[in-house]
Amino acid sequence: MDDSTDGVRVRALDTIDIGAVTRIDERIGGRYRPEVWERRIGYYLRRDPEAALVAEIDGEVAGFMLGEVRAGEFGLEEPTGWIEVLGVDPDHQGKAVGRRLAEAMLEHFRARGARTVRTLVDETMGDVAGFFERLGFEPATLKPYVKSLA
Ligand SMILES: CC(C)(COP(=O)(O)OP(=O)(O)OC[C@H]1O[C@@H](n2cnc3c(N)ncnc32)[C@H](O)[C@@H]1OP(=O)(O)O)[C@@H](O)C(=O)NCCC(=O)NCCS
Repeated sequence: MDDSTDGVRVRALDTIDIGAVTRIDERIGGRYRPEVWERRIGYYLRRDPEAALVAEIDGEVAGFMLGEVRAGEFGLEEPTGWIEVLGVDPDHQGKAVGRRLAEAMLEHFRARGARTVRTLVDETMGDVAGFFERLGFEPATLKPYVKSLA
């Protein structure tokens, strides 16, 4: 996969990108977590390598998106594309990096037979919902439940 529009180039994520993803996560969340991203990216690359993407601006990684196509979970029998992790470097937010990553991801999901794309947004973690709404996502009937195990 290799796609370029408006100076943003989306390509498959590779293990060499772990450092760049770690840096973007640190810039967004304020914590340096190389082991977390080493493990997490390894996991996504094993599950569905084509659903692990980075976006570059001028050859530098400016954002990333991780997802997967699954079927059978939560009573959803049809193949569903899930966007699970994403981040855009604060210096490059608002330049359509997130939009271009999502477009490439949705193209992959469609190619894999998914007719629906889903995500979950924690509203305590910033206004990511506003981004998905601009991309045409709507509130779903699938309702999250949680119970503390402490
Ligand atoms: C949310 C995020 C992925 C958006 O990526 P981005 O590259 O800045 O977004 P884009 O420039 O592609 O924006 C696409 C559209 O969504 C809109 N949009 C982006 N972020 C938005 C927001 N927070 N609220 C409302 N709309 C938003 C843009 O205005 C744009 O609309 P348009 O194309 O119709 O004009 C990115 O800002 C991000 O990673 N934020 C940090 C995530 C975060 O806070 N995580 C918390 C855990 S630490």
